[in-house]
Amino acid sequence: MSAIIEVKGLSKHFGKFQALKNVSFELNAGEVLGYIGPNGAGKSTTIRTLLGIIKGTGGSAHIFGKDVWTDAIEIHKNIAYVPGDVYLWPNLSGGEIIDMFLKLHGHANHTKRDNLIKRFELDPKKKARSYSKGNRQKIALIAALAADAELYIFDEPTSGLDPLMEAVFQEEVEKLKAAGKAVLLSSHILSEVEKLADRVVVIKSGEIVDSGSLDDMRHFTRDTVVVETQKSAEALAAISGVYDFSHDGNKATFQVDTEKLQTVMSELAALDIEKLQVTPPTLEELFMHHYDNANDARN
Ligand SMILES: Nc1ncnc2c1ncn2[C@@H]1O[C@H](COP(=O)(O)OP(=O)(O)O)[C@@H](O)[C@H]1O
Ligand SMILES: [Mg+2]
Repeated sequence: MSAIIEVKGLSKHFGKFQALKNVSFELNAGEVLGYIGPNGAGKSTTIRTLLGIIKGTGGSAHIFGKDVWTDAIEIHKNIAYVPGDVYLWPNLSGGEIIDMFLKLHGHANHTKRDNLIKRFELDPKKKARSYSKGNRQKIALIAALAADAELYIFDEPTSGLDPLMEAVFQEEVEKLKAAGKAVLLSSHILSEVEKLADRVVVIKSGEIVDSGSLDDMRHFTRDTVVVETQKSAEALAAISGVYDFSHDGNKATFQVDTEKLQTVMSELAALDIEKLQVTPPTLEELFMHHYDNANDARN
């Protein structure tokens, strides 16, 4: 089966400044791909290139096997997207704008639209000029989610939403995934993609610095353990794979290589555990870890 998105060696120059350097990745049907990186990394530039809004200066990008620049019209019939900055017609109401987007798209589902307006708690009668950033984002999200497409592209979709609405968005993306759609989800807030993405591609300063499944990325990482035991846990500090051990009375805190967790747990069990908390690394921690390594390699 061919990829829904296929980017190969893509580069983009803005004058002398190179915003994308040899970017390559794929997205398949039924997959949610997290596209993560700090502000200014090149996420929106990649997405705008994929949408045929700007033209790459090297390499290639295909969606549904078609060239994103020359076949933009064909491609757009089957994609729905939400840009990073949502600009709306100030004098139209939210409801009117949603309907306009859906008409432009051509595959509207009105039941879905009404349901989404409820789920996102949007008042569709207000003029767009009075909407907050979060509400403008909701309008773009509702229009995209109510469109019947094969590929959904969201550029930092939840940056203006409160946590409840972010949860609604996440449920909607789960539904798309279950329906076999492909989703590209960019974010600089890594926890946003953590719950949804099957795979992540990490971009920094215009370059892909890492990619893979979150499980793969976690493989080489450490869990944080906070434990209270009746007997002293001090001996654990000497086990290889245990780091940053500290203790305060009967409470010990340390990090452990994920692959050493079994050994450490058997040791702990013998010390009569009263309370135990094991926290896997967040994507932020993986990310920092990666950047540290990348910096080490460069220095
Ligand atoms: N039209 C443009 N002209 C010049 N530089 C640009 C333009 N668009 C983006 N850039 C630069 O390209 C880099 C990547 O920007 P962008 O793709 O918006 O990052 P991200 O979406 O990851 O925050 C930034 O340094 C930005 O200033
Ligand atoms: Mg951006």
